[in-house]
Formats: sequence, C-alpha cells, structure tokens
Amino acid sequence: MSTETTEWNLGAGLEGRGVIVTGAAGGVGGATARALAAAGARVAAVDRDEAGVLRLAAELGGDHLAVPFDLADTGAIDGLVERVLEEFGDLWALAHVAAVLRRQLVDEVTEADWDLQHDVNLKSTFFLNRAAGNAMVAAGQGGRIINFSSMAWLLGPLWGSDAYVASKAGIVTLSRGFARRFGPSGVLVNVISPGQVDTPMQHTDIPPEVVRQSSAACPLGRLGRPEEMAAVVVFLASRHASFINGATLNVSGGSVMY
Ligand SMILES: NC(=O)c1ccc[n+]([C@@H]2O[C@H](COP(=O)([O-])OP(=O)(O)OC[C@H]3O[C@@H](n4cnc5c(N)ncnc54)[C@H](O)[C@@H]3O)[C@@H](O)[C@H]2O)c1
Repeated sequence: MSTETTEWNLGAGLEGRGVIVTGAAGGVGGATARALAAAGARVAAVDRDEAGVLRLAAELGGDHLAVPFDLADTGAIDGLVERVLEEFGDLWALAHVAAVLRRQLVDEVTEADWDLQHDVNLKSTFFLNRAAGNAMVAAGQGGRIINFSSMAWLLGPLWGSDAYVASKAGIVTLSRGFARRFGPSGVLVNVISPGQVDTPMQHTDIPPEVVRQSSAACPLGRLGRPEEMAAVVVFLASRHASFINGATLNVSGGSVMY
C-alpha cells in the first residue's frame, strides 16, 4: 500500500493511539468508541453505566479499557486521566460525549436538576479538557479534544431543555478558550453540534409525535444516526483535521444552517 493511500485512510494517525471516549455506553459514545477502535485506536470507554462499558469493552476486545466513572465526580477527573495514561502510556484524543438531559417546564427546574446537568455536561468538560490537554501538552506530540454541544446552543431551548441548553452553550465557549490555550502545542480543540440523533437521549421526556414532526422538518427528513456523529469524531481526531481548531461543527442534516 502506498503512503498516499494510507494518508487517505479515514483514521489516519489513530493506529495504536490512546483515546478516551466518555458516554461510551450511550448511543453516540458507543458508536464513537467502535469507530475509533475500527480506525486502530485503543479506547478507554468511560461511562457511569458500568455494565454498559464492560459490555462494550468485551465487544471491542483486548486492547481497550472499560472505565466505570461518574463524571459528576469532577474532583476525581485528574485521576481518571492519569489512570488512562498509566494503562496506555499514551493519550492522543479525548472525545467527551457524555451528557445528561432533563426536559422540564421552567417552573419545575430545581437547583438539583440545574446542578446535575451543569456538573455532568459543563463542569466535567472544563476539568476533563484541562487534565487531558495538559497531559497532551506535557507529552509534546500534540493531540485532539472533541467536545459535544447541541444545535440548541444556537437555537435556544426547545421542548423544556433550558438548563441543559445553557450547559451546552457553555461548552462552545469553554472549548474556544481551550483551543487558544492548547493550540500552540498542537492540541486542537473542537466541538460537534449535533441535530436530532436517534439515541435514548433524543426520546427522553418527549412525545414520539414531536420527535417525528421535528425530524420530518429536517431537510434530510430523518433523525441522524449515532454513526454519523462518530464519523465526524474520527475525522476530527485524524490527521485530515490538522488545521481545524476552535470550530463548532454543525452536524444536523441541515436542521440548522451556518
Ligand atoms: N441524541 C440527540 O438527539 C442529541 C442532540 C444534540 C446533542 N446531543 C449530544 O450528543 C451527545 C451524545 O448523546 P447521546 O444521544 O448519545 O445520549 P445517550 O443518552 O444515548 O448517552 C449519554 C451517555 O452519557 C452517560 N452519562 C450520563 N451521565 C453521566 C455521568 N454522570 N457520568 C458518566 N457518564 C454519564 C450515560 O450513561 C449515557 O451512556 C451528548 O453530549 C448530547 O448532549 C445529542
């Protein structure tokens, strides 16, 4: 195989590299872990769903790692990154996919609801990006951080997702800060902003007809598939994305256009 052909492999640069995928027991996180593994990476699959990550790691085979972990425990995040570094001896990419969504009427949002969504979605992004980014900078080989927002960061809250959406907008601005901080060391930080994707989260606390109507309004007339998010993660983690930094990629099938 010529070097050129290798260069154009979708997973170029990922072979044998250590990556962390959070939310790996979920729809998009699971697809992302499988796609990165298929591209040759060693995956540390992180999720609070212990049975889910154990199942996934067993499915992926020997070189991967199941890490049951509650991201609301932000004080333990440095230790999580250290553990993966110890196991793999390498950390090339972080795909921070995990999130929690509670759709509620504004008047019903309690402080506990707000705190949970902001801890798991936004606060963990700060501490995980900082720990992973610092480790990548120290290793001196560059790296990739891919965070997950939502098209609602731009549209504003839909169907009672006010607290969640505020956390997702915070992820966009936090990521821009990290893109500036780590960019000079070759650690690129980007955000994927999905539209509606067919996972358990999409169907949380919402009538099926609302999901049907809104996906029919997408120019592609359907929900996205988890694999269609995972493919963008693999691209951003690959050599092909070497000049993309601080971007928020709209992966919504045209539900929003920018
Ligand atoms: N599905 C959609 O339509 C949609 C739309 C826009 C954005 N997103 C974003 O895409 C990403 C993936 O979502 P998904 O659709 O795969 O959701 P999902 O519900 O299928 O998966 C989320 C995963 O995160 C894990 N998780 C939740 N809280 C955690 C915690 N405290 N610690 C560790 N793990 C935790 C869950 O166990 C689950 O496995 C999320 O960031 C979500 O906000 C999804």
